[in-house]
Amino acid sequence: MKHPVYLDYNATTPVDPEVAKEMLPYIESFYGNPSSSYSLGRSNKEAVEKARVQVAELINCQPQEIYFTSCATESNNLAIKGIAWANSDKGRHIITSAIEHPAVTEVCKFLGSQGFEITNLLADKYGWVNPKDVESAIRKDTVLITVMHANNEVGTIQPIQEIGAIARQNDILFHTDASQSVGKIETDVNQLGVDLLTLAGHKLYAPKGIGALYIRKGTQIENLMQGAGQENGIRPGTENVIHIVGLGKACEVALRDFKQNQHNMQVSRDLLLDGLVSQLGNQVHVNGSMENCLPNTLSVAFENVSAYALASFISSDVLISTGSACHSGETTISSVLQAMNLDFRTAAATVRISTGKKTKKEEIDFTVEVITNAVKKLTI
Ligand SMILES: Cc1ncc(COP(=O)(O)O)c(C=O)c1O
Repeated sequence: MKHPVYLDYNATTPVDPEVAKEMLPYIESFYGNPSSSYSLGRSNKEAVEKARVQVAELINCQPQEIYFTSCATESNNLAIKGIAWANSDKGRHIITSAIEHPAVTEVCKFLGSQGFEITNLLADKYGWVNPKDVESAIRKDTVLITVMHANNEVGTIQPIQEIGAIARQNDILFHTDASQSVGKIETDVNQLGVDLLTLAGHKLYAPKGIGALYIRKGTQIENLMQGAGQENGIRPGTENVIHIVGLGKACEVALRDFKQNQHNMQVSRDLLLDGLVSQLGNQVHVNGSMENCLPNTLSVAFENVSAYALASFISSDVLISTGSACHSGETTISSVLQAMNLDFRTAAATVRISTGKKTKKEEIDFTVEVITNAVKKLTI
């Protein structure tokens, strides 16, 4: 068993050894520019195109609808600003939700400062956005709806299919940030009815610093950057071949092992919750709804225990994250927990524990023991 036990897979994942192996030749030998016409360049172009197919297969789209970016943040920026700018003659209203990652919220805020109007939909106590609220928020000048597929802090899965249908009926473009869902739950762009979808390499066992944006064929979008013609002119800049190859392989592995990974993540997460409840009883409070949650995510509060103190106390044994930040003795509650209307005490006691595809039973047993001891010591 590796020590400390890592249970923060929603923050990032390690690079899968199969992915690392696939990347190695591009680090060591194949350094050509994909735009060069000689074979060293052409082979890199082929590697990029192979990766595009691998990514497309995972989310069920055409390879030409995949655009490589540097991260999920960039994909979200390109999707939201790109659609807003390309459609500003039609309208300047955007619908989003209060439970988005800052990589969406801050982009919308920025557009708000540039003359766009943003409707920020509230979520219920489970962190779920009601499609009826989306429908009611639609106006004649709405040009984009952006609602995440699954939440990074509490794991709540959003009704993307229903929102997609509403968007389509009203002829409005629909973007989803699927950084946390790809590889964990089925993410099929056609089933979901989305026009744009963000994915992040490092959440699915590819390296950090690589992302992709799905853009449905025929969607008009403006660039964030001007430059040469890479990525069909939409995302210029010499391709990050090494990382693109890694993302492609990670998507291939995620598709191949999907059922098994999903099962393992869920079994570990459920075992963890059962263990904690059996040791600590009703001191354990689960946030969100376990029925409508990512298979690997547990957002849990231990009554009368500071989450920050708990996460720090156990950090030499188990790595988890908190739903609040503590700076100079002051606790700030995350915007997601605030949007769920969680009371301050519960939010300040909330930790996020997220399992991975290779999490082992012995790691979970150890974690239950470590957390139980820590909670008993830290309860005030
Ligand atoms: C839902 C969601 N969107 C976007 C991001 C941003 O990812 P990156 O920092 O790789 O751009 C994250 C990362 O935590 C996330 O969880």
